[in-house]
Amino acid sequence: MQIFKYKDYEEMSKAAAAFVIREMIKKPDLILGLATGDTPIRLYQNLIKAYQDYIISFKEVKTFNLDEYVGIDANNPQSYHYFMDNHLFKHIDILPENINIPANDPDDMEKSAEEYNKKMFGNQRDLQILGIGKNGHIGFNEPGTQLGNMTFIVKLDEETRIDNSRFFGSLEEVPTHAITMGIKNIMYSKKILLLASGKSKAKAIYKTAYGPVNDITPSSILQLHPDVTIIVDEDAASLLNMEGNFLEF
Ligand code: F6R
Repeated sequence: MQIFKYKDYEEMSKAAAAFVIREMIKKPDLILGLATGDTPIRLYQNLIKAYQDYIISFKEVKTFNLDEYVGIDANNPQSYHYFMDNHLFKHIDILPENINIPANDPDDMEKSAEEYNKKMFGNQRDLQILGIGKNGHIGFNEPGTQLGNMTFIVKLDEETRIDNSRFFGSLEEVPTHAITMGIKNIMYSKKILLLASGKSKAKAIYKTAYGPVNDITPSSILQLHPDVTIIVDEDAASLLNMEGNFLEF
């Protein structure tokens, strides 16, 4: 596990973009795992800029998103389908058939999960981008999750619903369930890039780095992955014992 610390959100987002761009230049047909939420927004803006400047193209790139709420239509502005379209896809040259986001048909969630697992089979992600919840969730693998899970339907933690209510009108409007890649799917990607910004993430980053590895902090499992890079700002790194700006385990 390698941890790189940057001054603030702007600087860490530039570093994250440089990381992703390097991978895309090395392998133009990159299979890329994507996250939603506030944290990767500036990274996506930097990637759009790199595309506009002809530094990268998404023509051959395939993407797999981590998760989606259950029961929210793809055209709903709160859906992750909408988020991805708005923050990335509609600004770049990705082919629609190369975009994969878990389907969220509330009437047949088991089938949606199974189909998503099948789609990922044979499409091992070269790079998976992750954010992290205050409670250490990655994707929507909440504390207490089964570490051997593949894509599944999860009941969201109350803390997660409260955190995410900022995107909705009220807490009542936040869905109670989501469909998410399981820890096993996440661990199956060749490289992982985890991003965290702000004081509210410091505890989760501390536990991710120093463990113990357990289901109470799902992100701690990343200690067992052979190729994880964590990019954080000073606030998110504030509980780490860092002399300089780099830490390696
Ligand atoms: C989003 C996802 C979540 C977020 C996490 C942090 O697809 O899987 O795990 O990465 O909730 O969200 P933000 O970045 O909004 O703090």
